Amino acid sequence: MSSFLAFLPILLLLFPLRALSHSPKIFPAEDYLSFSYYAERCPNLEAIVNKKVDAWINKDYTLAASLIRLHFHDCVVRGCDASILLNHTGSERNANVSKTLRGFQVIDDIKAEVEKECPNTVSCADILTTAARDATIKVGGPFWEVLFGRRDGLVSIAKEADVAPTGHENITSLIELFQSMGLNPLDLVILSGSHTIGRSTCGAIHYRIYNFNGTGKPDPTIDPKYLNFLRRKCRWASEYAELDATTPRIFDSIYYTNLQKKMGLFSTDQLLDSDPRTTPLVSALATQPMLFYQQFAVSMVKLGNTKVLTGKNEGEIRTNCNFVNH
Ligand code: HEM
Ligand SMILES: *[C@@H]1O[C@H](CO)[C@@H](O)[C@H](O)[C@H]1NC(C)=O
Ligand SMILES: *[C@@H]1O[C@H](CO)[C@@H](O)[C@H](O)[C@H]1NC(C)=O
Ligand SMILES: *[C@@H]1O[C@H](CO)[C@@H](O)[C@H](O)[C@H]1NC(C)=O
Repeated sequence: MSSFLAFLPILLLLFPLRALSHSPKIFPAEDYLSFSYYAERCPNLEAIVNKKVDAWINKDYTLAASLIRLHFHDCVVRGCDASILLNHTGSERNANVSKTLRGFQVIDDIKAEVEKECPNTVSCADILTTAARDATIKVGGPFWEVLFGRRDGLVSIAKEADVAPTGHENITSLIELFQSMGLNPLDLVILSGSHTIGRSTCGAIHYRIYNFNGTGKPDPTIDPKYLNFLRRKCRWASEYAELDATTPRIFDSIYYTNLQKKMGLFSTDQLLDSDPRTTPLVSALATQPMLFYQQFAVSMVKLGNTKVLTGKNEGEIRTNCNFVNH
């Protein structure tokens, strides 16, 4: 095992794509989703999504990160089925843990446009997945082909949103959560790299900078200067701190070098650089920017395949992303 880990960075460099990222536990969704699903059904879909995402992010840059996160939170609960978008009392979206999710209006706007051109054809789940891809490109991340054909779920339960990670978890729990989605530790480290952009409400890290695990002291794994910075920046829970302390607006691998300098914002970020199952990956990514770029695309495709609904008998094509059809 330890000799395998020693070679992992080299293996990753040589075989960044499929080699280490197959997931035998989960049904191979690729057999059902396809690149050409809308080629005839809605040929302009990607152009519509791209134009809308572009316009929204031009108006508000912070929406890029929010759309990527929204897609993740959709996929974590019941798979990528747009259950996070349902807006009834007691839905995932209205759970406390979902309070800081944003970007819903972007999806609604895209959906309205898509319905005009291709009524009752394109799922909200596919729109959200595509919007996350386009948001990634917009902030300088990699392109990947989106697989299409997801259908929208009929069920959304607030309590189930509790499985979404909050930043307090240990690495074992995160590995297990990702495993339950058909994602491996490499996907965990790579997708956590989304934290190269975006921000957090300060409330989510107050416990780390003031009273870590009831000790009355800050988390000892935070760099002292960074701690000072965070304490100044985060006096109020409602303020924001950037997830990537050094290059918050650029999609790059500096997130990983920050971890090596004890400048991860969440303890779940920082722990990636202190666990034997993930540290070698952090080291590899910190020194090989292209590896992050290429593998991010691969891991995002895998994320988008999580427990998808396909076929006429599963889910539906929602007319309005906020509600199930009558
Ligand atoms: C691995 C476990 C993860 C944990 C513990 C975690 C935790 C968090 C937390 C606590 C926030 C800030 C919430 C707030 O504003 O209070 C956040 C933001 C964010 N997360 Fe994660 N996350 C994880 C994985 C992911 C994944 C897999 C993705 C994408 C594929 C992602 C993308 C983002 C983005 C882009 C933001 C910034 C959102 C914005 O600026 O609006 N995260 N995450
Ligand atoms: C979602 O539901 C809340 C509460 O009912 C409501 O205030 C809000 O306007 C709804 N959002 C949309 C986009 O329908
Ligand atoms: C959600 O947050 C509100 C206000 O902080 C609190 O009163 C309520 O009990 C919370 N609900 C759950 C289910 O945790
Ligand atoms: C990790 O967290 C889980 C869930 O909170 C807990 O059951 C487990 O004991 C923790 N593991 C370690 C090694 O701390």
